[in-house]
Amino acid sequence: MLAVVTIREVAQRARVSVGTVSNVLSESEKVRPELRKRVEEAMLALDYSPNQIARSLKTRTTKTLGTIVSDITNPFFPQLIRGAEDAALDRGYLLITLNTDDHVDRERRALALLRARKVDGVLLVMAPDDGEATHIAAALSNGTAVVCLDRMPRGIQVDSVTVDNRKGARMCMHHLASRGHRRIGMLSGSPALHTAKERLEGYLDVIREHGWPEIPSLIRHGDFRLDSGYRIAKEMLLEAEPPTAIFASNAMMGFGALKAIHELGLHCPEDVSLAVFDDFPFGDVIQPRLTVVAQPAYEMGRRGAELLIGRIEGREKTTGPVQIELSPELIVRGSTAVRR
Ligand code: RIB
Repeated sequence: MLAVVTIREVAQRARVSVGTVSNVLSESEKVRPELRKRVEEAMLALDYSPNQIARSLKTRTTKTLGTIVSDITNPFFPQLIRGAEDAALDRGYLLITLNTDDHVDRERRALALLRARKVDGVLLVMAPDDGEATHIAAALSNGTAVVCLDRMPRGIQVDSVTVDNRKGARMCMHHLASRGHRRIGMLSGSPALHTAKERLEGYLDVIREHGWPEIPSLIRHGDFRLDSGYRIAKEMLLEAEPPTAIFASNAMMGFGALKAIHELGLHCPEDVSLAVFDDFPFGDVIQPRLTVVAQPAYEMGRRGAELLIGRIEGREKTTGPVQIELSPELIVRGSTAVRR
């Protein structure tokens, strides 16, 4: 059984006080660089690793954040998590990520698990919820630091980092209108989801501004997953008067629409243009290269983690909620063309 190296042995080896070693471990700025270097070298030489559990009991913090997202197999979320993790690690925090598959009951369980593990705070991408998100209100009221990312709960004042979805949808629709499209299909997400609801509003804004008819068969609701995008796009394209362009409320449903287009022997953008909300690492590689409304997902995660840690460490003094809204960007590639 290897002897456990103590903090005192590290201090002796580094020729510093135990207090200095403790300040290095707590990431205190008070330690002079040359002393920090000696402590780190001593820890390495002695193969010392602090007992985080013991430290947590003493400091009543675990230096751990929970992140709850919809589904990390969707390329939007890894970008967001990466931004959060980079900010967390820079400040000595660990990230634990859980998925909800957009089910509120899984979200409740995830929140309960993270609180039981005494995480110092939670970054939350909410599942669609028709209720008033009482589990989030309860977490907040008992002192759990929460920052909502991407989606906003109804009726709850909470720190958040989101994107102006309605503006992004309007940008996309104006682009399609500029290419001569009038019959534009909308593959929307769940109406219970804040992001899907705002994107649908942006779609309808532009239709109304142009005085075009609102055609019910051109608006269909999926669940932000590929299969639902495939199903509703295929239904739409088999209508007597199919759309000349499709706007997908997220990338996964956009991929589903591409599958339907190819399966029906159609070509994008020659027969039907396609624009999607969300960019992803290979958006510029697949054929056709997709026209997207890109979200700053990495930035959203990073800013959210910084805000959350600022709250945890008492540096964020704003009494009311801090609500950061980032801007989307339209990137025109090869999947949208002038209507034939
Ligand atoms: O693709 C997942 C979607 O859910 C993204 O558009 C993101 O905004 C989230 O709402």
